[in-house]
Amino acid sequence: MNDAATRPVTAVILVAAGSGQRLGYGMPKAAVPLGGEPILLHALRGIVAAGVASQVCIALPAADAGLRQLIEDFRVELADGGPLLTMVDGGATRADSVRSALAAVEEGTEAVLVHDAARALTPESVFHRVAQALANGASAVIPVIPVVDTVKTVAATGGNDADIAPLVVTGTVSRQELRAVQTPQGFKVDTLKAAHEAAAGFDESTAAAVTDDAMLVELLGEPVHAVRGASQSLKITTPLDLILAEGLLEGPLGARWVEG
Ligand code: CTP
Ligand code: MG
Repeated sequence: MNDAATRPVTAVILVAAGSGQRLGYGMPKAAVPLGGEPILLHALRGIVAAGVASQVCIALPAADAGLRQLIEDFRVELADGGPLLTMVDGGATRADSVRSALAAVEEGTEAVLVHDAARALTPESVFHRVAQALANGASAVIPVIPVVDTVKTVAATGGNDADIAPLVVTGTVSRQELRAVQTPQGFKVDTLKAAHEAAAGFDESTAAAVTDDAMLVELLGEPVHAVRGASQSLKITTPLDLILAEGLLEGPLGARWVEG
């Protein structure tokens, strides 16, 4: 095992270029306030506090002056103390945004953590576990949490039974083997580059089925390792998630509740 002193030179790619349709705030999700500050600022503070990266490459909605100013102000706040902050225009899809940011990663970078700005409250411990797995030799590593609900497969109900209910259960998936996947996802830089280069040749339906970076590595046939994530690392997707995140910051349990 390597300790922190021998960790690879690491960049974080922070994807923040989404429009936040499901949150429905009428502004990019990264700009939506959480506990009085934009979601993007929480995400940035979390990365800096974790201390794992020498560079943060942030993919932003093209021409969003407000979010760019936010990062300029954060740069001033950090003074000379923090990582290099690089801004790029995101793309039409999350994968496009990752590719834009990957192209802006500094020469000499050995490892990259790809993180969703929408996971604004990811604890430092998760960054550390992912970084440590990379330092230990993993080429790809993801944080995961157990699935708490029973999961079943369903199909459209056929024949006369369609009058009873629209769906019928076709099976129950063993929960023991299932995990819900979070970010930051960590990669050796060459592995992530190869994975995204391969993805450039995908047909439309394959490209649409790709929902995270680790899946691209799986498609290369390379192993993806998993470490423990954290439930407060939820992806703020819907209004309910924002209520949960507000509760984590300010509610009765608030800052006292920390899941390692
Ligand atoms: N993302 C991005 N570029 C895109 C799409 C998404 O950088 N073209 C980022 C989002 O900003 C977010 C992360 O990828 O931090 C996860 O995406 P998601 O939660 O789906 O965010 P949005 O795409 O903004 O939300 P929605 O799908 O509801 O519009
Ligand atoms: Mg989206």
